[in-house]
Amino acid sequence: MGEQRVPSWTLPPDEEKATYVNRMFAAIAARYDLMNRLMTGGCDRAWRRYVVEVAQLPAGGWLLDVATGTGGIGYEALRQVPDAHVVGLDFTLEMMRVGRDKHRRQGMTFVGGDAIHLPFPDNAFDVVTSGFGMRNVVDLEGALAEQRRVARPGGRVICLEIAPPPKGLWGALYRLYFFRLIPVIGGLITGRPDAYSYLPHSTERFPSPEKLKRIMQDVGLRHVRYRLLMLGTVAIHMGIK
Ligand SMILES: C[S@@+](CC[C@H](N)C(=O)[O-])C[C@H]1O[C@@H](n2cnc3c(N)ncnc32)[C@H](O)[C@@H]1O
Repeated sequence: MGEQRVPSWTLPPDEEKATYVNRMFAAIAARYDLMNRLMTGGCDRAWRRYVVEVAQLPAGGWLLDVATGTGGIGYEALRQVPDAHVVGLDFTLEMMRVGRDKHRRQGMTFVGGDAIHLPFPDNAFDVVTSGFGMRNVVDLEGALAEQRRVARPGGRVICLEIAPPPKGLWGALYRLYFFRLIPVIGGLITGRPDAYSYLPHSTERFPSPEKLKRIMQDVGLRHVRYRLLMLGTVAIHMGIK
């Protein structure tokens, strides 16, 4: 028998994607952080730490974390810059509820909203971050243009994302782990194997790090650069308004 080429799972079409993504994250919210720790062997915390280091958020500065989920980047920003003003935005209230209940006393503000239409004025933030969120939006250029709009002139826009699967032997091993093992583990931990099938498939359509750099430049960000982590499977992009 020939190799099975028909995928057992496909991404939802664009017009249904936002609803699908919203429902999926609502369903896995309670176990989202735990699953991240397991999947990455705890590295996701180091990546968020690095995002905040790159942000160079000034004392008393304003940071917006788009698609904040349970607020991992925002809380890390408050850990590094305790008097900062940190706002997290997401359209899945269940994720933010879990985030809010994690550290009630730490003063992070959670706002319900869509990454494509940020409910903030122009030039409002010193730094705008996103972590593992841009893969999920229907209009990536629109979302990045919005992040640029709400950043102040000279402010930083930072995107932490999974990069498309690499090629070669490492890529084959990575795909085995990401496409076969993760849905099984994710299903056991969260009860939603489909959420952890969506995860690897969503990385395939996401632009390569070079392409993402060009998109960030096209929306008007300057000095865009990126760094690859975890043998090229995770990328952190940074651009300046
Ligand atoms: C993988 S989680 C990332 C959470 C968090 N940033 C982190 O680093 O763990 C993706 C988040 O993006 C949110 N999201 C996806 N599309 C969105 C959109 N258009 N507007 C706002 N939030 C969105 C989802 O609700 C979910 O909470």
